[in-house]
Amino acid sequence: MNNKIIVEGPQKVKGIVKVSGAKNSILPLMCASLLSGSQIKLTNVPLLNDVKVLNDIINKLGRNSHLENYELTFDYVENLAVYNETISEDANRIRYSVLLLGTILAVKGRVKLPLPGGCSFSDRPIDIHLDGLKQLGAEIKEEDGFLIAEAKRLIGTDMTLRFPSVGATENLLIASVLAEGVTYLRNIAKEPEIVDLINFLNKLGAQIEFISPSEVKVTGVKELTAADTIQYEILPDRIEAATFFILGALAAEDYIIVENLRIEHSLSFLNTAQELGVKFEILDPNTVKVYKINTLEPVYVETGVYPGLATDIQPMLAVLLSQADGVSTIKDSIYPTRFQYGQELNKMNGNIEFIESGITIKGESNFSGSEVFSHDLRGGAAVLLAALIANGKTEIDNTYQIFRGYSQLKEKLESLGVVLEQEVPLHV
Ligand code: EPU
Repeated sequence: MNNKIIVEGPQKVKGIVKVSGAKNSILPLMCASLLSGSQIKLTNVPLLNDVKVLNDIINKLGRNSHLENYELTFDYVENLAVYNETISEDANRIRYSVLLLGTILAVKGRVKLPLPGGCSFSDRPIDIHLDGLKQLGAEIKEEDGFLIAEAKRLIGTDMTLRFPSVGATENLLIASVLAEGVTYLRNIAKEPEIVDLINFLNKLGAQIEFISPSEVKVTGVKELTAADTIQYEILPDRIEAATFFILGALAAEDYIIVENLRIEHSLSFLNTAQELGVKFEILDPNTVKVYKINTLEPVYVETGVYPGLATDIQPMLAVLLSQADGVSTIKDSIYPTRFQYGQELNKMNGNIEFIESGITIKGESNFSGSEVFSHDLRGGAAVLLAALIANGKTEIDNTYQIFRGYSQLKEKLESLGVVLEQEVPLHV
């Protein structure tokens, strides 16, 4: 699905923008909701295509849910979702359907899903997911592009993840909740979205306790049932918050206010912004005021697992660094090849060089309008930011990718004063 955004730059922004619920929180919580037949109401739901696709899958699995007014409600159901094999095509459309592996396996004892593809910036293997499920007793085989996993009932065990993968941690947490006996998961991811998933699972009736910040003990339960409706609010999206923060620093008339974020989840990003010399004020634990930059120091930054600097932020940060007084370096230890956007920024007169696992960015770039491509979600967001400060017209192709991760992006940008044209408006 290709659709273009056309932007005439440079543009100025002013006003207030409210961050939506986190893409990387809603998707695992939606999968986890399949474990329980209770009525569940998720609030602060971001309006994203991936949410819609996963919701369609969930309905096809027999778990009725409706999305209305930023709320996703799962109806009470006596007999939990019955797996049918019609979901393959939909599952292929979102990478995160890999979480259905642990979910459906835990509920139904058998699951068949298409092998998840890579994505444009990395191969994105799933060995840690599969290895963990096998340790929980699943038999997994690959057949004609499908993964088939079976286990009558998963059995608790003690395992240490070889790397604290976000998705694998989520898959294994979801899978172990209904396993027989006790599961210890060690070296798990510590992202706020993981803590949120654990809190949600516990609210559904799971028994998960932290032994340390990177280890949990999961005491298996037979089923998750709650008499009352479970209501849960999706965390604000810390990556969207950083994107608008950077937009404000680059293009504010004077300043913009970013609301409804959790400052505590954005500390490494805010530390980097401070090191660069971006002027901002934390107005309260959920609100930040960011001023247009004057001068910026170049920096060396490396992404890392939480609480380190998020890999998802580095593409947008590169655009900010293109305005620094000197040469900056970004290294991405999570996805060392996530730099395709650099070629696009260079088409716009950026000055990016590719080094091992990273890029160098020569500052004081004057971007100029060009025809560019949005290879992936965050790379596309980076190109859009550059287009907003560039001189002249930029046409960004494949912006479907950007809308995968930014709820009501066009409306939010317009409310800040941005004028843009969208060839085929996307409605979710
Ligand atoms: N990895 C493996 N084997 C695995 C799983 C991961 O080698 O089985 C490697 C990956 O190749 C990568 C690293 O481990 O080098 C981290 O991957 P992780 O599993 O943590 O990432 P993910 O769960 O696939 C989530 C986010 C991504 C975000 C990463 C890292 C969601 C829906 N996605 O992906 O978000 O970049 O964590 O923080 O939560 C985005 O929002 O733009 C996005 C891509």
